[in-house]
Amino acid sequence: MKKIIIAIDGYSSTGKSSFARRIATEMEYIYIDTGALYRAITLQLAKTGILTSDNRIDRDAMKQELQRTEIHFQFNEAIQKSETFLNGDNVEEQIRSLQIANQVSYVAEIPEIRAYVDQILRDLGRERGVVMDGRDIGTAVFPDAELKIFMTSDLHIRAERRLKDLLPNQPDATLESVLSNLQERDRIDSSRETHPLMQAPDALLLDNSHLTMDQQMEWFQSILPNYLNDDCNH
Ligand code: DC
Repeated sequence: MKKIIIAIDGYSSTGKSSFARRIATEMEYIYIDTGALYRAITLQLAKTGILTSDNRIDRDAMKQELQRTEIHFQFNEAIQKSETFLNGDNVEEQIRSLQIANQVSYVAEIPEIRAYVDQILRDLGRERGVVMDGRDIGTAVFPDAELKIFMTSDLHIRAERRLKDLLPNQPDATLESVLSNLQERDRIDSSRETHPLMQAPDALLLDNSHLTMDQQMEWFQSILPNYLNDDCNH
């Protein structure tokens, strides 16, 4: 069967990665969490002091650091999930902290960083058969993706979902801190100059505020056949 690229973009904490992962499993495609690359770079820049706690970045040092930075994903059979490795270390847990979430949008605004990540993503998608979730996959990284989905959902519902995910590892997280982080990230992601978050004209809109994962998958299965035939040029 023809292999395609499925691009899933949308606002923070709309459940893009759970949805994308489930699609990848069902289709036996590779799932790529593109936000993890921006988060890993943010961690590296913070660790080296190139990114300060008030989000200032030494651009020259950043360019040099990028040349020394190697990021890859490795599938962990035990938990059946792919994990992020930064210069050989498993950083999957560290990159999910609220600290990194608070800083990552400032790093993702920088054109050189976006070019670095785009190159990795285009290599990973060369053979197609991938599901990628992010902010600019359908608009900038793979504008020729056969199937594009843009996800949104109610801000409060997103914040509650995100808090539930964070609490086991960060018991001091509050609904207020999560809400303000989501609003701030949405604002920066949507207003940056390079590849801002927006719905591609040919993307399907999925508002999952009141949908379970099974309902989202039902919707997905209903639209998928339209994008798998050979003469599809959506
Ligand atoms: O999906 P996420 O929350 O892990 O993404 C983290 C940040 O990375 C998000 O605030 C914006 C940025 N990002 C981006 O600019 N472009 C992408 N394709 C993916 C993520």
